[in-house]
Amino acid sequence: MVLLLFLVLFFVPESVVCQRPNPNGVEFNTSGNMYTSGSAYINNNGLIRLTNSTPQTTGQVFYNDQLRFKNSVNGTVSSFSTTFVFSIEFHNGIYGGYGIAFVICPTRDLSPTFPTTYLGLFNRSNMGDPKNHIVAVELDTKVDQQFEDKDANHVGIDINTLVSDTVALAGYYMDNGTFRSLLLNSGQPMQIWIEYDSKQKQINVTLHPLYVPKPKIPLLSLEKDLSPYLLELMYVGFTSTTGDLTASHYILGWTFKMNGTTPDIDPSRLPKIPRYHQPWIQSPNGILTISLTVSGVIILIILSLSLWLFLKRKKLLEVLEDWEVQFGPHRFAFKDLHIATKGFKDTEVLGKGGFGKVYKGTLPVSNVEIAVKMVSHDSRQGMREFIAEIATIGRLRHPNLVRLQGYCRHKGELYLVYDCMAKGSLDKFLYHQQTGNLDWSQRFKIIKDVASGLYYLHQQWVQVIIHRDIKPANILLDANMNAKLGDFGLAKLCDHGTDPQTSHVAGTLGYISPELSRTGKASTRSDVFAFGIVMLEIACGRKPILPRASQREMVLTDWVLECWENEDIMQVLDHKIGQEYVEEQAALVLKLGLFCSHPVAAIRPNMSSVIQLLDSVAQLPHNLLDIVQTREVHRGTEISGEAADSPESCSIAPLTFTESFVSHGR
Ligand SMILES: *[C@@H]1O[C@H](CO)[C@@H](O)[C@H](O)[C@H]1NC(C)=O
Ligand SMILES: *[C@@H]1O[C@H](CO)[C@@H](O)[C@H](O)[C@H]1NC(C)=O
Ligand SMILES: *[C@@H]1O[C@H](CO)[C@@H](O)[C@H](O)[C@H]1NC(C)=O
Ligand SMILES: *[C@@H]1O[C@H](CO)[C@@H](O)[C@H](O)[C@H]1NC(C)=O
Ligand SMILES: *[C@@H]1O[C@H](CO)[C@@H](O)[C@H](O)[C@H]1NC(C)=O
Ligand SMILES: *[C@@H]1O[C@H](CO)[C@@H](O)[C@H](O)[C@H]1NC(C)=O
Repeated sequence: MVLLLFLVLFFVPESVVCQRPNPNGVEFNTSGNMYTSGSAYINNNGLIRLTNSTPQTTGQVFYNDQLRFKNSVNGTVSSFSTTFVFSIEFHNGIYGGYGIAFVICPTRDLSPTFPTTYLGLFNRSNMGDPKNHIVAVELDTKVDQQFEDKDANHVGIDINTLVSDTVALAGYYMDNGTFRSLLLNSGQPMQIWIEYDSKQKQINVTLHPLYVPKPKIPLLSLEKDLSPYLLELMYVGFTSTTGDLTASHYILGWTFKMNGTTPDIDPSRLPKIPRYHQPWIQSPNGILTISLTVSGVIILIILSLSLWLFLKRKKLLEVLEDWEVQFGPHRFAFKDLHIATKGFKDTEVLGKGGFGKVYKGTLPVSNVEIAVKMVSHDSRQGMREFIAEIATIGRLRHPNLVRLQGYCRHKGELYLVYDCMAKGSLDKFLYHQQTGNLDWSQRFKIIKDVASGLYYLHQQWVQVIIHRDIKPANILLDANMNAKLGDFGLAKLCDHGTDPQTSHVAGTLGYISPELSRTGKASTRSDVFAFGIVMLEIACGRKPILPRASQREMVLTDWVLECWENEDIMQVLDHKIGQEYVEEQAALVLKLGLFCSHPVAAIRPNMSSVIQLLDSVAQLPHNLLDIVQTREVHRGTEISGEAADSPESCSIAPLTFTESFVSHGR
């Protein structure tokens, strides 16, 4: 009883993927070339289904190529790390299936005749045989006395046998050491990390629910040199089996990296799992027969039910907006947000953003701390900004960008759920005495963090994203004082290389570049301008414009430039920094700040140059003082259209997601 309606999305970046050669080892993900056998099947969205409801089957998927695990000269096994998201759903209300194993083994053609109790890896006679050369991590959902299993829900590291070297009940440790158990076959997607360090000779296995950040404490940690067990060239993949009772075993996403840390998986880009449909007639022994009349009645009921569901769906569809369909999996239940924020109590308010209040909260069940931004959605303006915000950030992942976890709509209000930033925004640290002071190394790190977040938006993401409102209030700090850029309410998507079009001026006074205020065209260069001002602000601990200060000190950039001309640039530094600072870094930040906030857009460096300069990989131009002094020449004169013609300036790309039809069966 399904309605088969499909969803075609405009954005399918995963489908066109080119692998970059990696000098330090292979790196791949589920977009790579895969080899399937048995019941395994990969659908068009990249969802790997290892088994379905067929009893007594084995499904295996391997990365198509052998990987070099061992150094041929000295025989050491390289470090590797891998992470994957899986989901196990048992059928008909009865626990079935044997679970999933991630496996490293010498062949991708394990014998299909192996009994399914052995997860498709062994048979009775070769269990424990050192010639197997099999290292596996099992997610075991079945008690089997012969393998010394204690329960039907555990994770173990297996070497050449299914009797695990080390085993633990499925779950994860929170940072304070509290253990939370997880049910492997709950049908919920979970993520697991397997990391081997060749120096420490240690394998760590870490499990966690999707959307809960990777725990610091691994579930399993085994000190073992893998070199006696692995051969030089090995395959990596997954195997899964069913018995008389079945379960669907899925791998939703997988990344692997040899000799390095594997990239995290972006949950928003994972494929959806089709709902499991109970077969109408189940007769494992062919005993069950149903008379024609009964089936006739059933078919009639199904037809009318389908029609009813179809009409109901159609009605529902009109409520779901196109961006919402695309953003589907992130929709939070209002009830959860209500509980998390204690009913949106005023005491839970963290602050007021551009569009509404921000509340802090703790999600029930997972205990994850979140920040919830409430956006009033009666005005058209608010709605448009909202769409821009979720469509953009929902798909971005970078350590220096605040992560949007999801959203919720309820009675005309929109709620955006973000990772909670424990330390709040940067402006509090710069201007509020009680928040505490930042020393130089912290300030320098914040500058570098923001630079790398902005570099990602400008140059590393598939589309150019202009932030449009870079200022200390939009720079947030986590518990470890890592800085993250937040509030993309004004961000607009721009495809690389589209023609510039004018849009309304947005931003905050003091951070708006001359060409932006004149032409209204935001560009990556106008972001660089604002970033330059923010750098100066962080170093000097003062606002870009102080209306009541003396003429000399009123405008931050003019003051810094004048002090530089007088060869005493260090006097502008915030007194709260004290004497503990690195003079070269401070000078670099001040000079680069002036360079970035140059009135002529075309002169400003781009973010990749900024990163190189901050990392001291590149040097500032030796005549930089002359360059930044040209601001005097241009002051008051019209700089004809340089900024507007800047190749990177661009504006709103229409946010269209094409969909033909939509479907869920329920
Ligand atoms: C897979 O890797 C390629 C390149 O290594 C990358 O471009 C692509 O975005 C990745 N796909 C996913 C789904 O992570
Ligand atoms: C692993 O990476 C290190 C440092 O990046 C490099 O020196 C080494 O050669 C790499 N080893 C292999 C086997 O690629
Ligand atoms: C083996 O060789 C690799 C790369 O040449 C090197 O990184 C590693 O430290 C060596 N290990 C030992 C134990 O010598
Ligand atoms: C078990 O598997 C091994 C390796 O594939 C094979 O040589 C052996 O014949 C099998 N034993 C039985 C009893 O099936
Ligand atoms: C750890 O934190 C969780 C919630 O974050 C709490 O429920 C638990 O009691 C804490 N455990 C300890 C030992 O403090
Ligand atoms: C495994 O976890 C321990 C404890 O958190 C950590 O010290 C160690 O570096 C980890 N090893 C690997 C290979 O990730």
